[in-house]
Amino acid sequence: MSESPVLVTDAGAVRRITVNRPDKLNALDAATLDALRAAFEQAAQDPAIRVVVLTGAGPKAFVAGADIAEMADLRATEGRDFSLRGQKLMRTIETLPKPVIAMVNGFALGGGLELAMGCHLRIAADTAKLGQPEINLGLIPGFGGSQRLLRLAGRAATLELCLLGTPITAERALQLGIVNRVVPAAELEAETQKLAEQLAASAPLALRATLDVVNVGGECAIEEGLQYESAQFGLMFATDDMREGTRAFLERRKPAFTGH
Ligand code: COA
Repeated sequence: MSESPVLVTDAGAVRRITVNRPDKLNALDAATLDALRAAFEQAAQDPAIRVVVLTGAGPKAFVAGADIAEMADLRATEGRDFSLRGQKLMRTIETLPKPVIAMVNGFALGGGLELAMGCHLRIAADTAKLGQPEINLGLIPGFGGSQRLLRLAGRAATLELCLLGTPITAERALQLGIVNRVVPAAELEAETQKLAEQLAASAPLALRATLDVVNVGGECAIEEGLQYESAQFGLMFATDDMREGTRAFLERRKPAFTGH
């Protein structure tokens, strides 16, 4: 029996989801896309889980793209379906009610960068290489890359990455706003753990509302976004965690958030 393309492990409230095809640099075939989506849906539903870390197995790659071998012989309608399958996964991650950190431990190319961009935060090893090289295959990004890169880093960076197809360093990705942090490769695990623990100790309902207002606000007019923010802000006053957070501040102690 072949090994599962996706590994799931828990450490306290932090779930680790690992793309597990290291021999293929964790390339995303249809089975891996589906297994990832199932893993994220499970993480969303598990009340014990507050944060998800997504990474790739092995020393070389986060994910080196959609599986080129699987794509090579697809016809147009199948290509569109493959794109929709990938887009659905990225959207599942992007709209997850819990923060997802991409731990970019190596190549994040094509579908790999698209996967990382579907996550809420990206921390990269200084050795990582990121890019949208689909143009070199006579293709364009198909898992949302052209749209998310545009929103994340703007038109100039999107056109540079997608037209030239040349991978960039983690440092340049940081300058362009594509990743949040770059750390020495040897410190990637520890730094990611710190980030995950900070989020795991934070107020889950406020984290969820933050993800929600940013997701909605990114796609609507400012007046609409501001109204939505006020509604979500108001909702927070119905939570135990808001009472706990404000009281803990006034009593000069650390808050203990329960997610209620
Ligand atoms: N799809 C399918 N298989 C892939 C893959 C992908 N996107 N990326 C890597 N692999 C496979 C290789 O075919 C190879 O398999 P093999 O050992 O069975 O021949 C294995 O992973 C190792 O890759 P290899 O190319 O030998 O490693 P490298 O260190 O020489 O090069 C890369 C690394 C990332 C530069 C190179 O693999 C690459 O360019 N990959 C494709 C990137 C890409 O275009 N992604 C967008 C796809 S839309």
